[in-house]
Amino acid sequence: MDRNNTAAMDYITARLGSPGSPALAFGGDYNPEQWPEETWAEDVRLMREAGVNLVSVGIFSWSLLEPSEGVYEFGWLDRVLELLHANGVRVDLANATASPPPPWFSHKYPQSLPVTADGVRHSYGSRQAFAASSPEYRRAAAALTERIAGRYRGHPAVVMWHVHNEYGCHNQPDYSDGAAAGFRSWLERRYGSLDALNAAWGTAFWSQRYSAWQEILPPRTSGTWLNPTQQLDFARYSSDELLECYKAEAAIIRSHSPHPVTTNFMGFNMGLHQPVDYWRWAEHVDVVANDHYLAADDPRNFQELAATADLTRGWAKGRPWLLMEHSTSAVNWQPRNIAKAPGEMLRNTLQHVARGADGALFFQWRASRAGAEKFHSGMLPHAGTDTKVWREVVRLGQTLRSLAEVGGSEVTGASGRVDVAIIHDTDARWASELDSHPSVDASSIAETRRWHDAFYRAGVPTDFRESTDDLSGYRLVVAPMQYLLSDCGASNLDGYVQAGGRLVLSYLSGIVDENDHIRPGSYPGAFSRLLGVQMEEFFPLRAGESVRLSAFGTGTCWSELGTATTAEVLSAVEEGPVAGSPAVTRNDAGNGRAYYVATTLSADGRAELLSVLCAEADVLPLVPDLPADVEVVRRSKDGTDWTFCINHGSTNVRLPLSGVEILRGEDLDGDLSLAAGGVAVVRSRH
Ligand code: GAL
Repeated sequence: MDRNNTAAMDYITARLGSPGSPALAFGGDYNPEQWPEETWAEDVRLMREAGVNLVSVGIFSWSLLEPSEGVYEFGWLDRVLELLHANGVRVDLANATASPPPPWFSHKYPQSLPVTADGVRHSYGSRQAFAASSPEYRRAAAALTERIAGRYRGHPAVVMWHVHNEYGCHNQPDYSDGAAAGFRSWLERRYGSLDALNAAWGTAFWSQRYSAWQEILPPRTSGTWLNPTQQLDFARYSSDELLECYKAEAAIIRSHSPHPVTTNFMGFNMGLHQPVDYWRWAEHVDVVANDHYLAADDPRNFQELAATADLTRGWAKGRPWLLMEHSTSAVNWQPRNIAKAPGEMLRNTLQHVARGADGALFFQWRASRAGAEKFHSGMLPHAGTDTKVWREVVRLGQTLRSLAEVGGSEVTGASGRVDVAIIHDTDARWASELDSHPSVDASSIAETRRWHDAFYRAGVPTDFRESTDDLSGYRLVVAPMQYLLSDCGASNLDGYVQAGGRLVLSYLSGIVDENDHIRPGSYPGAFSRLLGVQMEEFFPLRAGESVRLSAFGTGTCWSELGTATTAEVLSAVEEGPVAGSPAVTRNDAGNGRAYYVATTLSADGRAELLSVLCAEADVLPLVPDLPADVEVVRRSKDGTDWTFCINHGSTNVRLPLSGVEILRGEDLDGDLSLAAGGVAVVRSRH
């Protein structure tokens, strides 16, 4: 198998359907070890009833597979895999290293447990109780992986491999002595000399100069703010250290088996305090897989879902990806675990598929009776099959079968490709979350979401990209609060404009270089010239304060004192200490155009600006005048388009679409009627 995302996803879907007819993946985590063996027969019978074709097995089963050191018991797993195979259910087989290592392991090797910044060593008894730097953990994980991959390499049920689970979810970052040693080696490789490290970390400040590598520590709890570059490098190191664990286990599996290897990512949860750089990780998985859970208390959580799905597709470089987990209804880990309303699960799943997933799996198949997640919904609820959840699961299985034809297609926009990219660098995100910044309200994630939401509401699809990517195919690129930009990223964005592109930069973009050092001169340092503005001082706003603008509504969170040099001022601040300073500007540079937005615009103001930007960049929505709360996304392949329409609102709407509505088998001639809460998928030719 060619190990790239498209080929690997095709490899999997080809094995889920019948010969010549690939199927979208449908199923979930299956944890049969939690149940008496008699239950398994009912499990597979119901899996068949629901049309489940793929289950992830063994993710948390280490202590059962290796009950004591070097003693392995595979009997139960052999029987489970046989049963699944006999019933035509394929397996995404885990190497089980995300389980907490078994109690015998942590008891024997307590030094392998992670340590917090305050020096508290984690105990075992939950999960992921290991330090990535621990040689004992790595040895034990490699041995287990070797056994599992060797034993099941040829098993006919297995079609893909699931390494670990949600790396970094519970044990990141680790500040142990092992991590300190690993961090020092990583820094030596990065900087080569202490002089270079001292320069990069700016250690002349507060007398932090290091004179020996041994003096360097992780950014453990200290009296006040720690060195920001030390914190940033520690996040980079922590991601890399964990990635080494993944790569070592993946390499063992690959030495045994041709099936695709992956691990599941966690969407936007990749911040400074849970540092995993998925852009880099995505280079090492055969298929990008993501887990997504709704924030129950956010009434517009479907927009967050859309942003996460788009970001996942970004990691997959636009190719199909796999939704490894989502929930049929409530989860167990939020303050109030709100259940999904009737129809909500179908809308959520189709959002992921619309945005490029070639399958949708859940956590988990059967809701647990015991343990911390017993109140988490499953495909098969405690209350059994005469339930809303089960009926919806069965219907979803049918729906996904009828959508098999979209497999392998890619998300497109009105022009035949996605025209807008949003820049979302991990380093920029991490650095923006460092302490001691101008305003706690200035959040890179929040600003990114605001821009994504604006395009979402306008019905304009967006890709996520890194600042260093080739952006030449995009008509419009938005860089929301890309606070840190490397020289390479900054000059790539500049070059994009010079070559004719249209770039929108929000405040706090390009302020620091990759070492988190200010780019001197007028703000924003990397782009003052490109934007044709000279901003001299930040004027963050007070909590709840807003300022009137001469156009595009009001600004909150942020304002700046400065002037336009060559830029045209599209909107100026009208009140307060920076009255007269630019809020939104436009500047022609090279063959392109650069816009600056120096405040947080209100949703209405941003929508107004968006229509100007889209008109100038010739970017069209998929459907004009999209009704509120209606989501329209398109996937295309070989001259066929599939337009997914999802009505999150409570009114029936009509959309001007022609073709065949697949779910109801209806011919449409320019008029789709979409009920409140309903979904539709329209096939057409272009
Ligand atoms: C995920 C995890 C699953 C399960 C799920 C519950 O983070 O991978 O194992 O815990 O959350 O929502």
